[in-house]
Amino acid sequence: VMDVNTKKAGATVQNTMYGLFFEDINYAADGGLYGELVKNRSFEFPQSFMGWQTFGNVELKADGPFERCPHYVVLSDPQHVERRTGLVNEGYFGIGVEKGEEYRFTVWAKAPKGSGRITVQLINPATMGEHQDFASVRLDVKSAEWQKYEVRLKANQTNNKAQLRIFLDGRNTVCLEHVSLFPVNTFKGRDNGMRRDLAQALADVHPGVFRFPGGCIVEGTDLATRYQWKNTIGPVENRPINGNRWQHTFTHRFFPDYYQSYGLGFFEYFQLSEDIGAEPLPVLNVGMSCQFQNRNNAKWHVPVNELKPYIDDCLDLIEFANGDTTTTWGRKRAEMGHPAPFNLKIIGVGNEQWDTLYFERLAPFVKAIKAKHPDIMIVGTSGPDSEGKMFEIGWKAMKELKADLVDEHFYRNEEWFLKSGLRYDNYDRKGPKVFAGEYACHGKGKKWNHYEASIYEAAFMTDMERNADVVWMTAYAPLFAHVEGWQWRPDLIWYDNTRIFKSVSYYVQQMYAMNRGTNVLPMTMDGKFIAGREGQDGLFASSVVDKNDGTVIVKVINTSKTEQPVTINLNGLTGATTAATITLSHNGPDDENTLDQPEKITPKNGTVSLTAGKKASVIQDKLAPLSFRLY
Ligand code: AHR
Repeated sequence: VMDVNTKKAGATVQNTMYGLFFEDINYAADGGLYGELVKNRSFEFPQSFMGWQTFGNVELKADGPFERCPHYVVLSDPQHVERRTGLVNEGYFGIGVEKGEEYRFTVWAKAPKGSGRITVQLINPATMGEHQDFASVRLDVKSAEWQKYEVRLKANQTNNKAQLRIFLDGRNTVCLEHVSLFPVNTFKGRDNGMRRDLAQALADVHPGVFRFPGGCIVEGTDLATRYQWKNTIGPVENRPINGNRWQHTFTHRFFPDYYQSYGLGFFEYFQLSEDIGAEPLPVLNVGMSCQFQNRNNAKWHVPVNELKPYIDDCLDLIEFANGDTTTTWGRKRAEMGHPAPFNLKIIGVGNEQWDTLYFERLAPFVKAIKAKHPDIMIVGTSGPDSEGKMFEIGWKAMKELKADLVDEHFYRNEEWFLKSGLRYDNYDRKGPKVFAGEYACHGKGKKWNHYEASIYEAAFMTDMERNADVVWMTAYAPLFAHVEGWQWRPDLIWYDNTRIFKSVSYYVQQMYAMNRGTNVLPMTMDGKFIAGREGQDGLFASSVVDKNDGTVIVKVINTSKTEQPVTINLNGLTGATTAATITLSHNGPDDENTLDQPEKITPKNGTVSLTAGKKASVIQDKLAPLSFRLY
């Protein structure tokens, strides 16, 4: 028997409570969320033709119109009527196109003789028919000077392994740079936009906060490849590419051509945060490269007295996000099309670092940021451990440094999630707030998105919710994974080039985020919080009220393998006779959604009858084994 005191609204549940964490891992940006379909569009990868096949008379040059991306190709007469000059782009595991959709091909081009022509095609390399191309258009290059050209291609088939073929039409030489192909229908219809289905999936969570761009890629494999936000703004043609720390991983999945185009850069991240209604939370490098390769080795880090450019990056970013259009960086934002500030409130400095190497570097950042922007909240980190000595040292240092929030990460197994239902009860209420910024249940020996793991996450989240006075932000991780390009699993959302499926964990996150309420309500079983402890039948529960309309929301998770009867006294709520429910249930604990069965497991709406008493309305219900029900 559970008791909710519906009249005792407690701690505020922050708007940021349930958020998302985006990192370019598993081909989440290029090849994923970012709408660009051409790989190595500027020929800037270390091997210039990675992603391309050339034929005929193709030359690479490096004195193009964009100083930071100087390479381009020259297509010249193949010198034979039966030969062709041109190139084919393979995309990211192919190019995904959908029947009836239009694609916007753009290119910077010049024809030294003043005119030239190319043909641009979408091809199906696997076709058994005579024609590989299924969309084809001619493009006339009309000048000896560099100009941007655009044509559209309409796909008459859905194909997630298509390719882009370009060949010289006629004899006149044509030079091509920044060869790009986007769906016309990106999310919000933006030219440099996001893949619609993936971005919509983010919006549909109703996230409160959006953390970007990582993760380990913030630090880079080494300092040279750390994420540098200033390289990611301005015209996309002139953004230099960067290596990706996730080219290789501990799992030995190796993708030699995994680079960051930076087409999805900080302007786009801020804009996306706005589009999906989430507070932006950028994370910047603290002068340290990735902790997992360079653990506690000073030579991989910037000396403390040389941190100024790194600190300036933070201060300039705040100006980029919030400065008015007369400021240096605010003007750049306006020039990119967003004169209004992005209203940045929180910034992360460092990701998952620990020990004094981190603490002594973070200190001058905090000092400089707080001196200039006292209202900006700073997120520090407790390192990768969710408990133990290093974790305690990390928290102690964050308190001393007066970080506003501490980012904790935990990728743990089922047992850990089940035993941690009271984790936040004992946290210091006077110290920094918690950002549970990366977590996921990694099933023992399984490590993928099976149903059971998601239910344990749901159970653990009751603890976060109940402790909303100290837990201010949370996010599952990682967010995205391409089925052919993943390095890390489980992940929240999976996709190939044309299809998507949402994991059960996604629905757990969504159920919480869409039913966040405004204030915590006390909820007990025999006078104790319901956190799966002995005598509580594997049940976890929490409840909130939405003060805007008085709605009481109760979340109950049955982590046991047997059905559980539950009685919930909604004390103080009189007269209610029915309650809407949303339920996540299953056919087997290893069940999961897939590309072929994307909606095998989804939350189901229902209702239950209540007994309306004079002092309380009472829910009497039965919860299926391993299920999550929200009233
Ligand atoms: O989410 C994957 C990685 O896990 C992140 O990049 C890092 O912060 C953590 O180690």
